Amino acid sequence: MHDFQYKNNTLYCEDLPVATVAEAVGTPFYLYSAATLTRHFTAFDRAFASIPHLTCFAVKSCANIAILRLFANLGGGADIVSEGELFRARAAGIDPQKIVYSGVGKTAVEIRAALKAGILMLNVESEQELAVIQTEAAALGLKAPVSFRVNPDVDPRTHAYISTGLAKNKFGIPIGDALRVYLAAQKLPNITIKGVSCHIGSQLIQVSPFVESLVKLKSFIAQLAEQGIAITHLDLGGGLGIRYNDEEPPEPDEYARAIKMELADLDCTLILEPGRVLVGNAGVLITKVLYTKEGLKKFIIVDAGMNDLARPSLYNAFHLIQAVERQDQEQTVADVVGPICETGDFLARERLLPQVTAGDLLAVMSAGAYGFSMSSNYNSRPRVAEVLVHGDGFHLIRARETKESLIQGESIPEFLGKHGA
Ligand code: LLP
Repeated sequence: MHDFQYKNNTLYCEDLPVATVAEAVGTPFYLYSAATLTRHFTAFDRAFASIPHLTCFAVKSCANIAILRLFANLGGGADIVSEGELFRARAAGIDPQKIVYSGVGKTAVEIRAALKAGILMLNVESEQELAVIQTEAAALGLKAPVSFRVNPDVDPRTHAYISTGLAKNKFGIPIGDALRVYLAAQKLPNITIKGVSCHIGSQLIQVSPFVESLVKLKSFIAQLAEQGIAITHLDLGGGLGIRYNDEEPPEPDEYARAIKMELADLDCTLILEPGRVLVGNAGVLITKVLYTKEGLKKFIIVDAGMNDLARPSLYNAFHLIQAVERQDQEQTVADVVGPICETGDFLARERLLPQVTAGDLLAVMSAGAYGFSMSSNYNSRPRVAEVLVHGDGFHLIRARETKESLIQGESIPEFLGKHGA
């Protein structure tokens, strides 16, 4: 359930007509509902209320500091993958003891920053990374809290680009090698072993792959215990899918029930890193029709492109597109395309849509996750505004970039001449 609903054929976000925001901030823009974000976080977090747990929002899915603060106010932490995300999480006021740091390519500089900040733990993905952490922790005179990301070789049954838990993927330490790595880590003076972690993929629409990996992790944790290595934190990553079209992903309750059942006799704090399930359906991309064109095919040319929402081009992902002002018009099949100079620049292809004309507003639904956060300046397009609705009010949580911001940091070396030709 989300708070983008029609009232008298006009699309509202909570109690505010979407068109009102469009008039105020221009298009395109991302629009989020505080009520939906709150409800999604609460439903997810409450599903685990009966066991010690920490919900660390995957910052990469939607990194705006207002959204991070909203989750922090509800008790949430952060799953970060870069120093930039650490900076965001801290700027949003997230308690460092609620921050976990994942990623295969953390640099020494990033590791140092995370250690200095005093985060809960680093999810280590290789022995070489462990060596760097040991060096950095020794230099700072502290003990680095770590967990190792284990690759359980489980098929998440999702898009190949976002499957991460198969042996052939670049992620984690193969489960067969993990014991050796833990034993080696145990001997390092500046390392404290806290946990075991895994993340097998994103947009999972079944519970079974999660359970399958949990079963493997449990027997691995038992092996660790036999060696005298006690685990206090088990991080199961993120990955719970959402409905974009006709998918039927499990509700957080069903997901939590399956995990809790499997966890029953394990004495540790569960960490979860949900991204998409919290924000995906809590955000939309609003765009305006610029032109329509009919030849061999019908095209609706809008002012948002693949630089603003990459998912359709990158993963062939489906996003429902709705008219902001709904009328009883005939429907036609059309491609919704952006202004970018690539045929791959589309938001929808061969989609049954209402007849629209220049100036109409369209809502690209379920764009809250990996929407703005994956946007770019390609074709020198300033990144769009982000707006958060709360009741019948709205807040600009990220101003639209300007032309000046596009060339910020660029310079023309003197040998190219002081003035243009
Ligand atoms: N934890 C780790 C270590 C991750 O790599 C990810 C996502 C998450 C948590 C959050 O997963 P979620 O709950 O959102 O599924 N750009 C793609 C998705 C990439 C996911 C990357 N990792 C897309 O637009 O579908």
